[in-house]
Amino acid sequence: MAILEVKNLNLGFNCENGFCKALYDVSFCLEKGKMHALVGESGCGKSVSAMSILQLLPKNAKIISGEILYNGENLLKNKDIQKLRGSKIALIPQDPMTSLNPLYTIGNQLLEVIKIHQNLRGDEAYKKAVEALDAVKIPCAKMRMNVYPHEFSGGMKQRAIIAMALACNAEILIADEPTTALDVTIQAQIMELLREIRQDRETAIMLITHDLALVGENADKVYVMYAGRIVEEADADEIFKNPKHPYTQALLKSLPSDKDKILRTIDGQPPSVHENITGCRFNPRCEKCIDVCKKEIPLYEKVGNNHFSACFRSNN
Ligand SMILES: Nc1ncnc2c1ncn2[C@@H]1O[C@H](COP(=O)(O)OP(=O)(O)O)[C@@H](O)[C@H]1O
Ligand SMILES: [Mg+2]
Repeated sequence: MAILEVKNLNLGFNCENGFCKALYDVSFCLEKGKMHALVGESGCGKSVSAMSILQLLPKNAKIISGEILYNGENLLKNKDIQKLRGSKIALIPQDPMTSLNPLYTIGNQLLEVIKIHQNLRGDEAYKKAVEALDAVKIPCAKMRMNVYPHEFSGGMKQRAIIAMALACNAEILIADEPTTALDVTIQAQIMELLREIRQDRETAIMLITHDLALVGENADKVYVMYAGRIVEEADADEIFKNPKHPYTQALLKSLPSDKDKILRTIDGQPPSVHENITGCRFNPRCEKCIDVCKKEIPLYEKVGNNHFSACFRSNN
C-alpha cells in the first residue's frame, strides 16, 4: 500500500544566470514495510527529491508543479508540515551532526522530540527515550542518555538519530546516504538495523545512495535517477537481472565483480542543472544512442511487470 506518492514533481533553482530546472516530472511511491532505493550518480537530484518531501529545500529552490501525497493529502499545500517532519516522516542524513545539537546530551535531544511529537513528559517520556535507544541497540541506554554527541562514534550518532525517529513512531524514514561517512562494518550494522525496522514496524524506508551494492543487499524496489529524471524503476531483483535503461546497465557494469578484474566507469559526467540537452538527457554518454535520442525525450513506458523505463532502446 502506497503511504507516500510523489507525482510529476518539477523543481528548479534561481541561480545567478537565471532559473535552472533540476527535477523533471519526478514520480515515485513509498509503500509500507518496503525499502525503496533511489540511486544515481552524484548531482542527479536524489537529495533535492527527498528534501522536497520534507520541504527542507534551499532558499533559491522553487517547486514549479507536482504533488506529494501523504495518506492522500498534498503536503505541498499543508502549512503544518513541521508537525509531520521528525514525527511521521523522519530524515536520516549523511552527516548525523547536521541533526544533532553538540550542546545538548543525547537524552535531552530525545526527550525534546518526544515532548513535541508524542506529548509525553516526566517518567513516561524518559521511559520512551530509553526504549528507543535500546531498540537501536545502543548498549547501556540509561547511561548513554547523559552523554553528548561528540562522545558517540559516527555509527552511534546515526543510531541516535534513528532512535529519535522510532520514539516518534515515524511511518516513513528518508535515509540520505546514511552510511556513506561510515566504515564498512558499521555500514552493515546500520543497514541491518534499517532492515529490522522495516520488517518489525512496517516502516516505509527510502534509501538514497550512489552505491548499487548497498541497493542489491537491501532494497525491495529501485528507482534509478539521471540528471533530474527517474529513468527506470522495477523490483530490485528485476533491476539487477534485467536492466532496461542503458544508464542502469552502465551503473551495473561499474560494480566490482570477481570475474571482471577491470573496474569499469561510465565515461563523462552527469550534466549540471545549467546544461541544456536536447532529447534524452543521457544521450551524450549513452553507448546505444541513435538519432532520435538526440531530438526527442523518451516516454516513461512499461517494459515488464512493475518495470518502467524511459529509453527509445529499452527493448534492444
Ligand atoms: N541551492 C542550489 N542552487 C543551485 N543548484 C543546486 C542547489 N542545490 C542543488 N543544486 C543542483 O541540483 C542538482 C541535484 O542536486 P542533489 O539533489 O543534491 O544531487 P544528489 O543528491 O543526487 O547528489 C545538482 O546538479 C546540484 O548542483
Ligand atoms: Mg545527495
